[in-house]
Amino acid sequence: MIAFFGLGGDIDQEIADIVAYLQSIAPVAPMSDKQVFIDACQRCHDIKYDKLMSTTDKEALKAYMGTVPPDLSMMIRSKGAEYLTTFINNPQKQLAGTSMPRVGLSEKAQNQVIAYMEKVGDSKKAEREDLGYKLIGYMVLFTLLAYAWKVKIWREVH
Ligand code: HEC
Repeated sequence: MIAFFGLGGDIDQEIADIVAYLQSIAPVAPMSDKQVFIDACQRCHDIKYDKLMSTTDKEALKAYMGTVPPDLSMMIRSKGAEYLTTFINNPQKQLAGTSMPRVGLSEKAQNQVIAYMEKVGDSKKAEREDLGYKLIGYMVLFTLLAYAWKVKIWREVH
C-alpha cells in the first residue's frame, strides 16, 4: 500500500471517513461456512453433492490452470482435515508443482471451509462420535451392575 498524505484537508477527518466507509461495507452478519467456501473456492471447484458448480467455465479453467480442478464433495474423506489445513495455505508444500494457487485465508475462514467440506462429505461424523460416547456409557453402566452382582453373590457365599 502506498503512503497516504491526505487530500489536503484535515487528515484525521479523512482517515476517520475512510474507516467509517470500510465499516459500512463490511458484511453485517458473520458469514456461514458455506458462504466462505463459495467466496474462496467455488470460482474453481465444484461441490456436486451440495449442487455447487464452479463459477468459471470448465474449458477456461482447463486452459488457464492446465487441469480441471477436482470436485471437492468427498475430498475431506480421501485427504482428511489435517491435509486440507496445510494444503489450502501452502499447496506447493503438499503437492509440489500443483497448479492450485495459494488461497490466503484467515484461520477462522479456513476452519469454516473445512467445516463445510466435512458437513457435505462426512455428514455422519457427529452421529458416529455420539454413538461412541453412548457405547462407553453403556459399558460403564454394565461394569457397575456386574460388580454389584458379584458383591451380592459373594456376600451369600461367605
Ligand atoms: C484459481 C482456482 C482455484 C481456487 C480458487 C481453488 N483451487 Fe483448489 N485446485 C485448483 C486446481 C487447478 C487443482 C488441481 C491441482 C493439480 O491437480 O495439480 C486444485 C486441487 C485442489 C485439491 C486437491 C489436492 C490433491 O491433493 O489432489 C484440493 C483439496 C483443493 N484444491 C482445495 C481447495 C480449497 C479448499 C479451495 C478454497 C479455499 C480451493 N481449492 C481453491 C484450483 C483452485
